[in-house]
Amino acid sequence: MENVQNKKILFSGIKPTGTLTLGSYLGAIKNWKQFIDDYRSIFCIVDMHSITVRMDPAELRRNALQQLAYYIACGLDPEKCILFIQSHVPAHAELSWTLGCYTMFGELSRMTQFKDKSAKNADNINAGLFTYPVLMAADILLYKTDLVPVGEDQKQHVEICRDIATRFNGVYGDTFTIPESFVPKVGARIMSLSEPDKKMSKTDDSNAGCILLTDSNDDIMRKFKRAVTDSDMEVRFDPQNKKGVSNLMSIYSVATGKDFDTISNEFSGKGYGSFKLAVGESVCDMLSPIREKANELLKNKDYLESVYSLGAEKAEAIARRTMDKVYRKVGFIAKPRRNG
Ligand code: TYM
Repeated sequence: MENVQNKKILFSGIKPTGTLTLGSYLGAIKNWKQFIDDYRSIFCIVDMHSITVRMDPAELRRNALQQLAYYIACGLDPEKCILFIQSHVPAHAELSWTLGCYTMFGELSRMTQFKDKSAKNADNINAGLFTYPVLMAADILLYKTDLVPVGEDQKQHVEICRDIATRFNGVYGDTFTIPESFVPKVGARIMSLSEPDKKMSKTDDSNAGCILLTDSNDDIMRKFKRAVTDSDMEVRFDPQNKKGVSNLMSIYSVATGKDFDTISNEFSGKGYGSFKLAVGESVCDMLSPIREKANELLKNKDYLESVYSLGAEKAEAIARRTMDKVYRKVGFIAKPRRNG
């Protein structure tokens, strides 16, 4: 069972807008795993964040359950951490509203992701897209989180969360823990294999450039064989001028634990063909046990339900205490609790 005494708290989440990708695995989940023995770890399937873009309801439900199976298959053992679905804990929406009243229009307007997403969804620039970082701040602050492991693109959202928490604490006294982000040195921004100047993404990417955790080994090898490189035939880390090759080197480095010099030496004079094959094989070796375990877990819906039910109960207990404190601080009359 988890030992929660005196441990610092870690929180992170992923939107179930699609199947998990190699980017979300290397930028996030793989790092989460390394912390679960040392932190009281809470991992969320942030379904409420998913509806800022139009989602097919059946697909959203399928993705959320699949994501839970993959969390467990990636090594997030429910005995050691809390795994839950955001919409099961109403405090997320409650704190989000409250914090929205302490967040400035100007600071939300400066969020890079809001600018990008509103450019891509010009026909649906909804208020949720705009206030998204407030909900994310609520996710983090509800649990007195110390550490938030994320990929590079989410760092700005952790920064605004810190600003909101600091502002609230400034008005009402010490209420929220100010969280730190953790962004891995390698793997924080995995790029598309077909368009290496774009982030690998489940929603934006053409299928060819994006490795899904559900992809078969054949699919993975095919995508790596077609990965865009350059014409100078040298395996060298230079993310400015050799985006495709540097991206493949990052993936290979995280998959094998080898550093960039070792990788350059290994493929010196060998050309890109054998390099791409080696990267593809290292990714197959890394992902196929996870895929097999997740497929097994997905056959046992009762087990998955028991995990997310218990997870929601545990998360709710922590979140409710924070909400009571926040409501007291802002001046709401406490709701009488009836015994029995
Ligand atoms: P999301 O769902 O877009 O991505 C989930 C996590 O995966 C990382 N990531 C990547 N890392 C490296 N390379 C990539 N190509 C790549 N693609 C995705 C992301 O940085 C992220 O860590 N708003 C968040 C979800 C969220 C959250 C939270 C995170 C909601 N509440 C509270 C932490 C704490 C998001 O949209 O991530």
